[in-house]
Amino acid sequence: MIKKKILDALNKQINAELYSAYLYLSMSAYFESKNLKGFAHWMRKQSKEEQTHAMKIYDHIVERGDLVNLTSIGAPTADWKSVQAVFEHAYNHERKVTGMIHDIVEAARAEKDYATEAMLQWFVNEQVEEEAQADEIVQKLKMNGESKSGLLVLDHHLGKRE
Ligand SMILES: [Fe+2]
Ligand SMILES: [Fe+2]
Repeated sequence: MIKKKILDALNKQINAELYSAYLYLSMSAYFESKNLKGFAHWMRKQSKEEQTHAMKIYDHIVERGDLVNLTSIGAPTADWKSVQAVFEHAYNHERKVTGMIHDIVEAARAEKDYATEAMLQWFVNEQVEEEAQADEIVQKLKMNGESKSGLLVLDHHLGKRE
């Protein structure tokens, strides 16, 4: 059994991961509307990944014999002023999620819930990667400036995400 404080935080994190999936799907739809199929593909993949993150925590709660508590997911932003604004939003969102994960790691450690701490270690590493990925795209977009051809090259490149 997981202590209530940790269980509540884990259930809240499931919601945050599903919100991330929703946010990235909204970003994908935005790119679809701009005919940027590569960016749309990248965000769609990202959305799927966030669903798997939610399920990792879900499975952990189930394995510990506790109750998953699903709550309503807020509506994500639907419009941005530029491609760069979308990726800046994604980067800032990932930083916020990293903070949430770190808070649960600290709480799990304080409560001596080593199983939760070990499970969350995967997320700690994943967040480093996700922040770096989003930031790399922001930096490329900044370098690209107003170039339409550069944007299409990046769109093509991101469309190759496996
Ligand atoms: Fe995630
Ligand atoms: Fe993420």
